[in-house]
Amino acid sequence: MTASRDDRPHKTGPASGLPGGQEGDPAPRPHASAEEVEAARSDTKLAQVLYHDWEAETYDDKWSISYDERCIDYARGRFDAVAGGEKLPYGRALELGCGTGFFLLNLMQGGVAATGSVTDLSPGMVKVALRNAENLGLDVDGRVADAETIPYDDDTFDLVVGHAVLHHIPDVEQSLREVLRVLKPGGRFVFAGEPTTVGNFYARWLGRLTWETTTRATRLPFLADWRKSQTELDESSRAAALEAVVDLHTFDPAELENIARAAGAVGVQAKTEEFAAALLGWPVRTFEAAVPAEKLGWGWAKFAFNGWKSLSWVDDKVLKHVVPRGFFYNVMITGVKPNN
Ligand SMILES: C[S@@+](CC[C@H](N)C(=O)[O-])C[C@H]1O[C@@H](n2cnc3c(N)ncnc32)[C@H](O)[C@@H]1O
Repeated sequence: MTASRDDRPHKTGPASGLPGGQEGDPAPRPHASAEEVEAARSDTKLAQVLYHDWEAETYDDKWSISYDERCIDYARGRFDAVAGGEKLPYGRALELGCGTGFFLLNLMQGGVAATGSVTDLSPGMVKVALRNAENLGLDVDGRVADAETIPYDDDTFDLVVGHAVLHHIPDVEQSLREVLRVLKPGGRFVFAGEPTTVGNFYARWLGRLTWETTTRATRLPFLADWRKSQTELDESSRAAALEAVVDLHTFDPAELENIARAAGAVGVQAKTEEFAAALLGWPVRTFEAAVPAEKLGWGWAKFAFNGWKSLSWVDDKVLKHVVPRGFFYNVMITGVKPNN
């Protein structure tokens, strides 16, 4: 396999003056026109760009993403669950579908990799990820890139990671073939935060129930303070419509392992987590999206985080031994590029 694509990463730095990643990358489009949104209904990649460009600047707040001990521990925990025990740090790491950089930037802070490249189909996300990396003083470059045609040379990276991205990619096996192409022989990939098929079913159901209950209850006059403006609610509904276009897959863990092996990986292993934690997490996240942010203070954030942490402990120590792995909400997978 050969790759002759340009591989000149853009360094994060105050002198760059670039709107997104590498020079020549498209600029973010945070305000899509009605025509674009309509076109995106039948074009999943356009939908990815519009949806994620639209939410890039507010994404960290929406998902309570931070770059401190809390999220470093979370990212490191996901990595160690499937790839713990490896010699760290890896040299150069690549993130696919980086979003605002949540996974790779926190893994780098957690000592997993020395240098990194963040990539995403959405220029808005690459821009925010590079800004976050710069604020953290990390050695990171980035560019706009499609995970099905990764714009880097063969044998470039020691590690490739992704979080909550595989389920957005039309051809997952093609993307994993690309991952193996850009990995050095013996290099590893780790993808986490993917929805299982069973988990996605109950998460959607719980989300819908919480949304309906909350938006109906806040129509009551004495709860008017808790109601979001109609414009915000309409915007959320439009986003939900696009979400249906961008969420392409759910995974059975064994099937995902087979896809990775068919792509050419060895040492493949999928693990799942969050069952009780997801049963709490989805209603909590949906409720947060349905009411004005200023209504939920520090106490709520503490309840949500501690509740999730306690139930994750129950999942890990108890339920993991009695509940089938396909019932847990999150699946993660690792594999290695053969040494020829
Ligand atoms: C759910 S977000 C996750 C972002 C981040 N990894 C995180 O966990 O916070 C999925 C990201 O994948 C990106 N994406 C979707 N399809 C992609 C593709 N074909 N190639 C690269 N990135 C893609 C989206 O633009 C979006 O930023």
